[in-house]
Amino acid sequence: NTADEKQKKMYRIEEKEFVEEMRAVAMKLHTKDQAKEGEKEPQGQPWRKWEPSVEGYLQFLVDNKLIYDTLENTIIGQKTANSSSLYADFMNTGLERSEALAKDLKWFKERGHTISKPSALSSSYSRYLEELSVKDPQAFLCHYYNFYFAHTAGGRMIGKKVAEKILDKKELEFYKWDGNLCQHLQDVREKLNKVAKYWSTEEKNHCLEETEKSFEFSFQLLQLMLV
Ligand code: HEM
Repeated sequence: NTADEKQKKMYRIEEKEFVEEMRAVAMKLHTKDQAKEGEKEPQGQPWRKWEPSVEGYLQFLVDNKLIYDTLENTIIGQKTANSSSLYADFMNTGLERSEALAKDLKWFKERGHTISKPSALSSSYSRYLEELSVKDPQAFLCHYYNFYFAHTAGGRMIGKKVAEKILDKKELEFYKWDGNLCQHLQDVREKLNKVAKYWSTEEKNHCLEETEKSFEFSFQLLQLMLV
């Protein structure tokens, strides 16, 4: 009936909106040299002029591996423990990066590089994410969104630049996805919208407010390349 149709329509508008809000908050936190929609003044060297070292970049990959392991294990863990089905939708989205990073680290190792331990920075971020996954799903999903989506946007641009500068253009698995990446991203956007439909305005705001922390951490993580 028309009332149902009307409600469906309203939901669809709302569904479209939450991820758009998440994206809008994230875009504003970019510096102007990073993205057109960025509103922050650039700090330090523009990223295109970064001079990463192989050791620094390898540390960056090791640290990313820890964070993706944490995100992916948390999502699977929540399902098998059956303590919460909240993250079950986010299993096997096609965006997972842990296995790809394992292959890349193996590639470096085979070429004689030493694979170091994750830094104190990512170890504490990993513990923070684990805590959030249990206590604060809105904040957890904010980090989830920013980490996976940033990697497909700016992360890929950075990866390409780094490969040109120090890896003889070698394209790492970290930057390759099985299937259609745009479709995976769209599916995850819809899943986030679906989950957020049940959140109160306070919970939605809380999720959006966490974006800044996600940026702070990711920015520090990027700095590891430059050591
Ligand atoms: C999107 C660049 C760091 C989160 C983007 C876009 C660019 C970009 C060019 C695409 C804008 C568009 O759709 O036209 C960069 C660069 C960075 C950087 C150069 C660092 C040097 C970050 C960080 C985060 C982040 C640290 C958060 C942890 C996002 C998100 C999107 C995005 C969530 C939206 C993706 C989507 O809508 O699919 N970034 N970014 N970015 N970035 Fe960044």
